[in-house]
Amino acid sequence: MKKLKSYYMHLRQPQSIERKWIFPLAIGSIVSLFLLFLTTLTSSDGTPLLPFYRSFTAYSSVFVESKLKPVPVSNLPPPPRFAYLVSGSNGDGKMLKRTLEALYHPRNSYVVHLDLESPPQERLDLQNYVNDHPTFKKFGNVRMITKANLVTYRGPTMVANTLHAAAILLKEGGDWDWFINLSASDYPLVTQDDLLHTFSYLPRDLNFIDHTSNIGWKEYQRAKPIIVDPGLYMTKKEDVFWVTQRRSVPTAFKLFTG
Ligand SMILES: *[C@@H]1O[C@H](CO)[C@@H](O)[C@H](O)[C@H]1NC(C)=O
Repeated sequence: MKKLKSYYMHLRQPQSIERKWIFPLAIGSIVSLFLLFLTTLTSSDGTPLLPFYRSFTAYSSVFVESKLKPVPVSNLPPPPRFAYLVSGSNGDGKMLKRTLEALYHPRNSYVVHLDLESPPQERLDLQNYVNDHPTFKKFGNVRMITKANLVTYRGPTMVANTLHAAAILLKEGGDWDWFINLSASDYPLVTQDDLLHTFSYLPRDLNFIDHTSNIGWKEYQRAKPIIVDPGLYMTKKEDVFWVTQRRSVPTAFKLFTG
């Protein structure tokens, strides 16, 4: 009998040992799970709450997670604003809408212009589109030059139209950093978000126009010829033309090229 009992006790012993360990093991697992959970918590600026984890991430760059630490938003330079002129002519209405939508961003300002060669119906259609577009209406940053001008490619009417649009954009608050003039046939290769982000690192007075008063060969080739722009006095489009006479270089102001 005794033998049987000791045999029985011998059999039970491992079981009682197991049972003895279950409780501390459970407590231990819960505590370590809790600690693990704490290490995943981060404070609002993106740094981990637990100090040991903080020093761990600071000294080890082997782990991708430490490199992926989000940059605090306040450290980014503020994004700039662009002012766009998108212009087109007869038949460009649809293309102009497409370009405008691809370029659109609530931060920017836009002026669109369909020149006098486009039929009144096409211009009216664009005007209604700009006025009724829910997003344009909400941010009020798209306007159309409704009194259309006749624009001759390479002519002074083109420069005048560009300056007119810039003047409108300046009058509308002028809270923009760069002016970009595009044709309806242009299409952006990057999104406005990417462009605004990239330009946020550039000094705001950076000029992309090569601008100099040292006009060199252009004095004879560009300043002295007399060019006539039919867009100034005609209602139909015609190319600019050169007359045989030349003029002297103006002295009342200095000529710049860009
Ligand atoms: C932008 O404006 C300038 C000056 O009028 C003009 O020479 C140039 O061709 C324009 N660019 C586009 C894309 O319309």
